Amino acid sequence: MSAVIAPSAVRGRFLDIQSLVEKSTDIHGQVRFIEDGLLITEQGKIKWFGPWEQGQQHLPAALHVEHYPEQLIIPGLIDCHIHFPQTEMVGAYGEQLLEWLNTYTFPTEMQFKDKDYADQIAAFFVHELLKNGTTTALVFCTVHPQSVDALFEAAERHHMRLIAGKVLMDRHAPDELCDTAESAYADSKALIEKWHGKGRHLYAITPRFAPTSTAEQLAKAGQLKAEYPDVYVHTHLSENKNEIAWVKSLFPDHENYLDVYHQHGLTGQRSVFAHCVHLEDKEWQCLHETHSAIAYCPSSNLFLGSGLFPLKKTWEKHVKVGLGTDIGAGTAFCQLNTLDQAYKVQQLQGESLSAFEALYHATLGAAQALDLDDKLGNFNVGKEADFVVLDLQATALQRLRQQRAQNIEDALFALMIMGDDRNIQSTYVYGQKAYEQKNAQSSSNQAH
Ligand code: GUN
Ligand code: ZN
Repeated sequence: MSAVIAPSAVRGRFLDIQSLVEKSTDIHGQVRFIEDGLLITEQGKIKWFGPWEQGQQHLPAALHVEHYPEQLIIPGLIDCHIHFPQTEMVGAYGEQLLEWLNTYTFPTEMQFKDKDYADQIAAFFVHELLKNGTTTALVFCTVHPQSVDALFEAAERHHMRLIAGKVLMDRHAPDELCDTAESAYADSKALIEKWHGKGRHLYAITPRFAPTSTAEQLAKAGQLKAEYPDVYVHTHLSENKNEIAWVKSLFPDHENYLDVYHQHGLTGQRSVFAHCVHLEDKEWQCLHETHSAIAYCPSSNLFLGSGLFPLKKTWEKHVKVGLGTDIGAGTAFCQLNTLDQAYKVQQLQGESLSAFEALYHATLGAAQALDLDDKLGNFNVGKEADFVVLDLQATALQRLRQQRAQNIEDALFALMIMGDDRNIQSTYVYGQKAYEQKNAQSSSNQAH
């Protein structure tokens, strides 16, 4: 990035997961908790990270140190699946996936034909991400190319790393929301040329899901992916049983739902499939073999009554998974709320999601799912300096509970069960403070 980004330094209690893990049981060994730490950034990247005692000598002269003695600082939260045009329709009553799309979603998305409207919602959306500690997201726009422009323009103001794309949809949706195989290809190609790799922006080829694309359109999407192998593919897979039956009837020659995408060249290292609640064994195998990733969206799966995602299987089958909110089927922007739901979904399956595994799925594991673990996910030197300052005691009840926390794992667990945007004190993007809660207790700043 050519822009000059000021250096910065933050002191406080840091918690992250140091490296990728193969099995959930390994996670404890990868936890890095520094009670009094220092992080120094230069040009938006982490230049030095470690204990304050050792770090002081690395501080450039006269660099202001922001000190958060009571708070907890974690890597920026990563949302692996969210729809920015659905921001205004969270909490749409009474339907499951297919009826919910027709009744609420498509009429809402039609409004994004209007660039001014898209700009307004994009600005709200980006602010809401930051307010919730989310620094990177993989985002669905609408079928309208201008909705992608609106989102990237809004993110650019904060130097945020977002991945997004125009929806591809040439059937089973209102005419106003349909493109064609050819126009989807041409519009997506132009958007890739315009945005992919510009600053921190990355592009995702975004067929909505198999039922709303003809085989011809999926073939064009696959052609585009072959032409631009380092762009992403982002779509939905196996969320709802009626949806799966519909895909079987629309694509009778395919072995299973995922095979529809796979045969069109849409699986791979940078392909992310939202939901995957009801996968068959062969689909798990295909995800593993192609290094494709899953976006797990517990809040959405509960809200739409889609089912209980078998998170444990991602470890057993060695399939990458990151956490997603799936706004507007999901009901909160905050990954803390989403982890609360993830914990409960596991409980219903006789499993307990540990706080450290939860943190992993929302940070380093999510970065890996997005093939960005060389840039994001923890405080390793050289990575991009996106992080969140958490106030663990944002309410009276939280204060009472946190005062009794046994250790950092217990404190983190209580935070993920009880927490929400009130706990996000500040959000830093590329080393700069991009959000600060107005009524947060002020940190005791100190000049160096
Ligand atoms: N499947 C196809 N489109 C959508 C959508 O907008 N939201 C969800 N949750 N699932 C989908
Ligand atoms: Zn979705």
